[in-house]
Amino acid sequence: MRLDILTLFPEMFSGYLGQSLLKLAIERQLVEVNVINLRDWATDRHRQMDDRPFGGGPGMLLMAPPVVECVEEVQGRGGSPGHLVMLTPQGRKLTQQVVEELAGHERLVLLCGRYEGFDDRVRQILAPDEISIGDYILGGGEVAAMTVVDTVIRLVPGVLGDEMSSRQDSFSGPERLLEHEQYTRPREYRGLSVPEVLLSGNHQEIAAWRRKQSLERTRQRRADLLGDE
Ligand code: ADE
Repeated sequence: MRLDILTLFPEMFSGYLGQSLLKLAIERQLVEVNVINLRDWATDRHRQMDDRPFGGGPGMLLMAPPVVECVEEVQGRGGSPGHLVMLTPQGRKLTQQVVEELAGHERLVLLCGRYEGFDDRVRQILAPDEISIGDYILGGGEVAAMTVVDTVIRLVPGVLGDEMSSRQDSFSGPERLLEHEQYTRPREYRGLSVPEVLLSGNHQEIAAWRRKQSLERTRQRRADLLGDE
């Protein structure tokens, strides 16, 4: 999978890209990540990317020409233009289902906003897939883009050691339940014991117990996932 991240703050990604799962995935060439500085497409000598909104109002907007031209040029590089994602609180909400959909693309181009947002013509011209990571306002799209990258690369074949583990996570699988509780050594800690059934070696019983736990947890904590709030 190829990811191109377009941002005014490329340095924000350096620590993140150099860590753990993503670092390994890049080293093993399962994922290619390019971070591109939007400001390189600024046209004036001050390298200005933003300006005040027509009609007044607070804050600054990213101007359409440098953003559109950057996206077009980056999408023109390499084989396919890929799937363009704009990170914005006005997008459809990122869920595991949306993550699975995004992971189906060979290439994603992630466009991060800053300030109060983009001149709307960016959206009108490029028709991006607008994605929000939740109903709150971030300082910019960078943390949202990292969230997309983090969630998507786990689904790239070979990135997780154990292929099963991503399928068993909360929100995964056909039912989209919360994951059951889990235990490891020691068998007893501060008077709390590991449930007997998990030590029984009876795989059928363990599976049944886990499913019951999953359903119970989901009902208690996230009834909305069961569709009966
Ligand atoms: N930019 C600012 N807030 C955001 C959010 N919640 N999701 C995606 N991009 C954003």
